Amino acid sequence: MYAMHKYWAKKAYNVINTFIENFTDKGDIVLDPFAGCGVTACEALKLKRKAIAIDLNPIATFITRMTAIPVNLLEFKKTFEKISHAVKDKINSLYVTECPKCNTKAIITHTIWKGPSPQKIRFWCPYCKADSWKAPAHIDIEKIKEIEKIEVPHWYPKQTLIWNTRVNVDESMSVPDLFSKRNLIALSILYNEIQKIPEEQKDIKNLMKFVFTSALPQTSKMVFVIKRRGKVEGKRKNKQPEVGSWVAGYWIPSEHFEINVWRCFLNRYKRVLKGKKESNEGIGYHYKEAENFDDLLRNSSIYILTQSATNLHNIPDESVDYVFTDPPHGDRLPYLELSIMWNSWLGFNSDFDNEIVISNSPLRKKTIEDYRNRMYKAFMEIYRVLKPNKYMSVTFNSRHAEVLYALLTPCAEAGFELVNVLPLQASAPSVMQDTRLGALRGDLIITFWKPIVRRSYDRLSKNDFEILVKKTVEEVMSKRGITMNQILREIIMVLLENRVLLSKEETFKILRKYFVIEEENGRLKRIERR
Ligand SMILES: C[S@@+](CC[C@H](N)C(=O)[O-])C[C@H]1O[C@@H](n2cnc3c(N)ncnc32)[C@H](O)[C@@H]1O
Repeated sequence: MYAMHKYWAKKAYNVINTFIENFTDKGDIVLDPFAGCGVTACEALKLKRKAIAIDLNPIATFITRMTAIPVNLLEFKKTFEKISHAVKDKINSLYVTECPKCNTKAIITHTIWKGPSPQKIRFWCPYCKADSWKAPAHIDIEKIKEIEKIEVPHWYPKQTLIWNTRVNVDESMSVPDLFSKRNLIALSILYNEIQKIPEEQKDIKNLMKFVFTSALPQTSKMVFVIKRRGKVEGKRKNKQPEVGSWVAGYWIPSEHFEINVWRCFLNRYKRVLKGKKESNEGIGYHYKEAENFDDLLRNSSIYILTQSATNLHNIPDESVDYVFTDPPHGDRLPYLELSIMWNSWLGFNSDFDNEIVISNSPLRKKTIEDYRNRMYKAFMEIYRVLKPNKYMSVTFNSRHAEVLYALLTPCAEAGFELVNVLPLQASAPSVMQDTRLGALRGDLIITFWKPIVRRSYDRLSKNDFEILVKKTVEEVMSKRGITMNQILREIIMVLLENRVLLSKEETFKILRKYFVIEEENGRLKRIERR
C-alpha cells in the first residue's frame, strides 16, 4: 500500500511496526511530527493504536490520508469507468499514429525525444494486436506541429519552481516546463474531468486526484531513457529502450520519454486499487479522522495536521505515548521545492518559511543554523507533548556529520536522553539493549527517553570531556575502513551517552589540540595521531 504514490525517504514499514509494538499498547497515541507519506501513522492504525501525523508539506498529509482512509472499491471502480468513458478517447486522439504494417490507426504509448525532435515511437495497434516501435513518420511530425498550435483547453498550474541548481531548477523554470505540450493538454483534460466528481463523493474525488498526482512524474519530461545491450535473435544488439523513473530534482534529460497520459493514469489507477484493497484490510474502518485532540481521545483514531512541528499548539502537554519520526535530514532533499509539481496541481499552498531544511536555493535563507534552530524548536515541542518516562525514536541518515550535530544536539538540549542506537534493519528492538556500533553506517534509529524529571547536560568537566573525545577518536581510528564521517558520528554518540553537549566547532577545537587534522569547507578530511 505504500507503493501507491511516490514520496522520498520512505522507511521500512515492518521495522516501524516492530518499534511501535514494542513501545506502546493498544489505544496509545503515537506521534510522527515529520510524517512524510504516513508510514508511522498507518502502522500505528494497523496495530490499533491512535496516530497523530503532522507534516508541513500538504502533499505529504494528503498521501497519508489517501493511504489510510477506507474506500468503497466498487464506487472507486465505477468512478474510474465514468472518467474513462468521458475522456479516454479524447486523450488518446492526441497520440494517434499509423501502424506501418497494416496502415490503420494506432495509439502512441511512448515517444522518445532528443531535444526538440522525436526520435522513436512505441505504439499499440488494435488491428495487429501488437505493441511495436517505429521511427516518427510524416504524419507524426505533422501531428506534433498541429498540437503545438492548440491551446491547453482547461486549467493547469503555472507556478514557478524555486530556483535551485542543486535540484536542476534555473531562474525561469515553471511547472508547465516539466511537461510536453501534448501531455499538458491531456493532463488538463483529465484533471478537469476529475474536478467534475461531485462533492458528495469527496473521498473518491480525492482518491482520483491521488491517482492523478501519483501518475504525474511518469507523464513528465523527467523520464529518462534506459538503453541496454543484449542478445536479439542470437546477435548482440541494442535492446529496445526502457523507461526510467523520476528520482528527485527537476532534471529533464536531453533524451527523455513522453508517455501517453491515459496509459500512466490507468497504470497508477491499477496500483492504487491494489493498495486500497490492502489498506482496507489492514486498517479499514478503524480509521476515523479527528477534528481536534479531544475528538482523537474520545471517538477517533487519527489526527492529521498540515503544519509545522515547531508549533504543536493543538496537542496538549504530556499527552503522547510514543514518537517515531524521520526528520528532514539537512540538505538531502528540499521536500517543499520538490513537491511543487504535485502541490500546484492540487492547488495546495506551501509554507516555505517554516520548512526545516538546508537548501542551496539563493532565494531561501535555509542555512544549517536555521535548520538547527528550527529543529531545536521542534524537539522542544515534541518533548512537551510526550508523556514523561516515554520514548522517542528518530531515524537518521546523513552524509555529513555536521547535520548529525545539528539534529541531535537540539534533541539533547530539549531534554531527551539517549537510550540506544540501532541500524534501521534491526528487527526486535529492546529498551534494555545498548548496541552502539563501532562504526555507525547507513540508516540508524536513535531512541531517546523523556526523563520523569528533566536533567541538565554537561555533567563532565571541560578536562574530562576533552579526554573522552580523545579516547573515542583513538579507539575509532584503530578500526579499519573507518570514514571521517563515522569518526564524528561516533564522537557525538559517546558525548550523548555521557550526557555532554558539544557543538561541532568545540569538537573540532579538541581534535585540533590532540591530533593533526585536515579540514575542507568545515568538514573533516583527514586525521592522524600527533
Ligand atoms: C525525511 S522526511 C519523512 C519521510 C517519511 N519517513 C516517509 O516515510 O515518507 C521529512 C519530512 O519532514 C517534513 N518537514 C520539513 N519541515 C517541517 C516542519 N517544519 N514541520 C513538519 N514537517 C516538516 C518534510 O515535508 C518531509 O515530509
